[in-house]
Amino acid sequence: MVGSLCKTYKEYFPIGAAVNSFSINTHKELIVNHFSGITPENQMKPQFVHPAEHLYDFEQGDIIADFAEENNLLLRGHTLIWHNQTPDWFFKDGGGPVSRSLALKRMKEHIYTVMGHYRGRTYAWDVVNEAVADNAEAPVLRQAPWLAAIGEDYVEYAFRYAREADPAAKLYYNDYNECDPVKSRKIYDLVKSLIDHGIPVDGIGMQGHWNIYAPEPDKIRRAVELYASLGVSLQITELDISMFRFDDRTAYEKVPDKLLELQAERYEEIFKLLREYRDLFAGVTLWGIADDDTWLSDFPVKGRRNWPLLFDDEHKPKKAFDSIVVF
Ligand code: XIL
Repeated sequence: MVGSLCKTYKEYFPIGAAVNSFSINTHKELIVNHFSGITPENQMKPQFVHPAEHLYDFEQGDIIADFAEENNLLLRGHTLIWHNQTPDWFFKDGGGPVSRSLALKRMKEHIYTVMGHYRGRTYAWDVVNEAVADNAEAPVLRQAPWLAAIGEDYVEYAFRYAREADPAAKLYYNDYNECDPVKSRKIYDLVKSLIDHGIPVDGIGMQGHWNIYAPEPDKIRRAVELYASLGVSLQITELDISMFRFDDRTAYEKVPDKLLELQAERYEEIFKLLREYRDLFAGVTLWGIADDDTWLSDFPVKGRRNWPLLFDDEHKPKKAFDSIVVF
């Protein structure tokens, strides 16, 4: 009898998985047996729920929200304000660019409508996703259509509107490369300035798109402690452990055993560390369930297969699973 992830970790934090409209059927058993929460991988993003100015489409998102309720799973909302998967109409007016006031009006309406629709069902939301620039020379905020349309205070407005739209939901700022010393400092600066201005931010989402080589545990530790020093809650929101450095061109048809072992060691050290910080973490979510359905099998290298999750193509537990589950 194999152990269960959610039973192993229920003393520490809820364990979640990103799901989509297919995987809630094809991977149902694994989701229900091993996880205590879910995040829609795409189905609540602006592209899906708000494809045109006067058109909302909650069909796919609702299927996932219903699945969460039927199976007693926590539901994280993902995501409201982002530079990706957000239709162009948000940033256009007639033939030209949108004005600041119209962009703010659209932002507010979007947040009120989407959060309003899922009020009482989503316990937390990634309100702003990936707003911070990666490189050292750049300013804190990356180039993004919301920044161009509204200006630097767009992040503040997003959180204010989100609190008004659903006062009970926990509001997260979510980003990747979150353990990089340069970027983590910028994320810290951004969230600190929000808090100093009285903006309602409840937590920082560390995406956790990591690989078998990096970031080293010490870097993760430093980032966790830096963010925690702001007094906010933390979540790992999109954990997967790639077999490759980011855009490594190496490709394998079948995953080498050696890499599966390295991956198991990585998962083990990461979960050990997260357990140490159990009081800070309000949740740990994996970005998928089994290796037959992962966004990394095409990103960032087209056609490169990857095996970043805890269950294999046949939905059997991998070494990585055994390394973190207590029997
Ligand atoms: C990814 C999804 O997994 C893919 O299916 C989609 O094509 C692109 O987006 N950071 C995020 C997630 O916040 O929303 C992204 O999800 C992965 C990176």
